[in-house]
Amino acid sequence: MTDVEVVATVEGLRSRLEAERAAGRQVGLVPTMGFLHAGHASLIDAAVAGNNVTVVSVFVNPLQFAPDEDLADYPRDPEADMDVCGRHGADLVFAPSVAQMYPEPGVPEIEVGDLASRFEGASRPTHFGGVAMAVSRLFDIVGTSRAYFGEKDFQQLAVVRQMVADHGVPVEVVGCPTVREHDGLALSSRNAYLTAAERREAPVLRRALLAGTAAVAGGEADPGAVASLMAEVIGGATTGELDYAAVIDPDTFEAPPRITRAGVRLLVACRFGRARLIDNMAAVPT
Ligand code: PAJ
Repeated sequence: MTDVEVVATVEGLRSRLEAERAAGRQVGLVPTMGFLHAGHASLIDAAVAGNNVTVVSVFVNPLQFAPDEDLADYPRDPEADMDVCGRHGADLVFAPSVAQMYPEPGVPEIEVGDLASRFEGASRPTHFGGVAMAVSRLFDIVGTSRAYFGEKDFQQLAVVRQMVADHGVPVEVVGCPTVREHDGLALSSRNAYLTAAERREAPVLRRALLAGTAAVAGGEADPGAVASLMAEVIGGATTGELDYAAVIDPDTFEAPPRITRAGVRLLVACRFGRARLIDNMAAVPT
């Protein structure tokens, strides 16, 4: 257990990190909305292993929630978060207020491009614009660094990579594998919303992805057939409402005409009562 220093102001963090960089130390950043679980902790572990100084930001970003979403109820536990950060060797927790993050009344929009209008962006039209605002502000405050994101939010990772490339941001984006419960459910703060019955059904998302990867591995080259198979697996095992089951080229997020040796990404999203859950997996022909 190391002592974690909490910084709440932009100026405080900037000057602290400038001193670190002046001393030749590499900075790692893990952006989060708190309520930290083992998925977040795996990103902290990767940042601690690859850098001299690790900053975990904890900020429930109002801009990425639509008015009808769960901003007010979003789970929070600052003390437990500090404990996770300390146990995993983070050095600094950046916990800004909304006024620190967004001092200007009308914050400018950031262009997030085509990638952000599909799948999660189609279901949540303002979501990625809000994510991009928070992440670009964090990158600006933290400066030259490596930043760690989970593959669990595969489209978010792609949007962040695109933003960094488009704007020449001096941040190296590192993607980290999805951490799962023993029964395969991807860890998510929103799993807290599941009833006991929904929790029993939710691992069907990974079962559908595994059925899809097995079909691709076995030679199925038709993306539509793989997508239908995943939808059937989910539809047959849950009362949850399927949002999408899709097969995409991971670079463009378009459905490829055929699945080639380069492989594809399988995406699923499903609503279980109050919780809307997403998951994804790579699929490669063998
Ligand atoms: P949050 O949902 O708190 O997630 C923070 C980071 O943890 C993201 O990069 C997410 O992909 C990663 N993560 C979540 N569950 C994971 C799992 N089971 N395995 C591995 N990584 C996982 O994503 C956000 O916050 C926000 O959009 C943010 C990027 C902080 C911008 O506000």
